[in-house]
Amino acid sequence: MSSNEKLLDIKDLVVHYETEDAVIEAVNNVSFEVKRGEILGIVGETGAGKTTIGLSIMGLLPKPPANVIQGSIKFNGRELLPKTPVPASAVDLVARRRRRREENKLKRMHRTIRGRKMTMMFQDPMTALNPVLPVGDQIAEVIRIHENVSPAEAVKRACEMMELVRIPATRYQEYPHQFSGGMKQRVVIAIALACRPDLIIADEPTTALDVTIQAQVLRLMRELQRKLGTAMLFITHDLGIVAELCDRCMVLYAGEIVESGTLEHIFDNASHPYTQGLFASIPNLEEETERLTPIQGLMPNPADLPSYCSFYDRCPVRTDRCKLANPELVEVEPGHYVRCIHAQLKKGL
Ligand SMILES: Nc1ncnc2c1ncn2[C@@H]1O[C@H](COP(=O)(O)OP(=O)(O)OP(=O)(O)O)[C@@H](O)[C@H]1O
Ligand SMILES: [Mg+2]
Repeated sequence: MSSNEKLLDIKDLVVHYETEDAVIEAVNNVSFEVKRGEILGIVGETGAGKTTIGLSIMGLLPKPPANVIQGSIKFNGRELLPKTPVPASAVDLVARRRRRREENKLKRMHRTIRGRKMTMMFQDPMTALNPVLPVGDQIAEVIRIHENVSPAEAVKRACEMMELVRIPATRYQEYPHQFSGGMKQRVVIAIALACRPDLIIADEPTTALDVTIQAQVLRLMRELQRKLGTAMLFITHDLGIVAELCDRCMVLYAGEIVESGTLEHIFDNASHPYTQGLFASIPNLEEETERLTPIQGLMPNPADLPSYCSFYDRCPVRTDRCKLANPELVEVEPGHYVRCIHAQLKKGL
């Protein structure tokens, strides 16, 4: 892939939450890329680290307790993370000052990118909407702030955005509480798209909606994404949404990518026992299944991760070898990566 095609390039990202009594290893050596105009899905159960990855890209991690330990996030070729490592010692004041200076510089750069070049959508539309401001004005405000256009031009553009997400512009003056859940989420989409960002990070944006409305909103997102060429990082725990929306997908478990590939790789040739378990636990309309098989057990405590395979305790194919070390993420076929020694052995690797 040429560097020009890569919109987002993340390497070896490690993020911890450091609380008084524990260090939570939320994201562990995560590397991936998002090409211009593509939709990459991140799937994983609760606590896997999905939102933490999204917030790291947006520069919105709560610091403290969050601490980016290492890694690189390049967006449009620009580095968003400090190059100076976290000072090894808390008393190394010079190193701490140097790091803080760099962090402040990056914070300022992030502010110029956020909302204009990249934007994030959250699960609950009300977190993104102001309850006391007409929805049209909320869209116009984003356009005015980021594009430096006249108020009249911003209103005109906001009306166009409303029509684009199929809300009549005649409802410009109405307040969020006058809209249904699905319509509110469409307003959020309009706000997200208003400045034509290169990247949208969508963090379970349809989970709060009922399934029919969810399907409508997803269809609209896909349609607009194609029309405008926006790349998307779509965070979900729902493989059905991934199948409907995404071009590629990665499966996150205990802060690590355990499998990634195209939809074909993941859906037709799932190779990590965790991904296989995810499929066994959802209903399949084409096959008659007596009973669904949930994955037994829980994800390991992120404050106390094992030194070996993090899926070991729940894995149906585990052997003693799995306890020797944490397996590497290995390319088992072009573009298909798996972190499991058994899957790798099966492919003769
Ligand atoms: N502000 C915080 N302080 C301490 N720990 C946190 C904080 N935010 C997240 N964590 C922890 O970091 C880990 C990853 O959390 P994250 O929110 O990224 O998971 P997620 O995959 O988005 O989960 P969900 O599907 O529930 O949204 C979890 O163990 C979580 O408890
Ligand atoms: Mg989350």
